[in-house]
Amino acid sequence: MTYQIHRYPAELIDVVRLGDGERVVIRPVLPQDEDLTTAFFRSLSAPARYDRFMTSLRELPPELMRRFTQVDYADHLALVAEVFSGGRESVIAEARYVRRPNSLDAEFAVSVAEPWQGKRLASLLLGKLACRAAAMGVRRIVGETLATNAKMISLARKAGFTIQPSPEVRGLMLLEMALPGSQPCNDAEASPLAA
Ligand SMILES: CC(C)(COP(=O)(O)OP(=O)(O)OC[C@H]1O[C@@H](n2cnc3c(N)ncnc32)[C@H](O)[C@@H]1OP(=O)(O)O)[C@@H](O)C(=O)NCCC(=O)NCCS
Repeated sequence: MTYQIHRYPAELIDVVRLGDGERVVIRPVLPQDEDLTTAFFRSLSAPARYDRFMTSLRELPPELMRRFTQVDYADHLALVAEVFSGGRESVIAEARYVRRPNSLDAEFAVSVAEPWQGKRLASLLLGKLACRAAAMGVRRIVGETLATNAKMISLARKAGFTIQPSPEVRGLMLLEMALPGSQPCNDAEASPLAA
């Protein structure tokens, strides 16, 4: 198997403590994260996977897995959050942006394993993504979510996204937010999405 090697942005690695003191490592994804990524998506409930992919996906197809784990860290950045328990590493959340070709817009998506939801992990990951995207020249971050996805809509509202129904697809909501220019990304308060 061949990988295209991009500089790994180690400066994006962070260790955070959630409200209840749990230690979580946040880091850019690596090509060798396929097994961890498979285990993470398998661990999501069917409704959570549906909310994430808007289709009943049971497994990530190989091509999608390759795209999810082999990113260039500039036009496509994926962050994973992971914990270590009993000597084992597990991914508990992932978030990514993908820049639209020849555009200042990037699309984002995020998912958090159910036992870890409600601990502000998605907000944290989106803040970090937005900060990095702004530093990479992205000026607008956009996303789509089902109108029934109350958690994502609430998160987006609190983070300052504008939310409107898709004019083309019934039941789909469009989320968007302008990003300010580049600013330091290691300070949660500096995040364009600090909610
Ligand atoms: C949507 C999702 C990413 C939120 O992740 P999370 O880590 O639980 O979110 P956070 O803890 O950062 O919560 C941020 C805000 O979201 C909203 N939220 C989170 N959980 C909620 C719940 N159970 N009910 C209502 N609102 C909720 C709240 O407004 C919350 O703000 P608060 O903490 O000030 O109350 C998570 O539920 C998920 O992974 N869902 C399945 C996949 C998905 O829907 N992805 C989004 C499509 S791209």
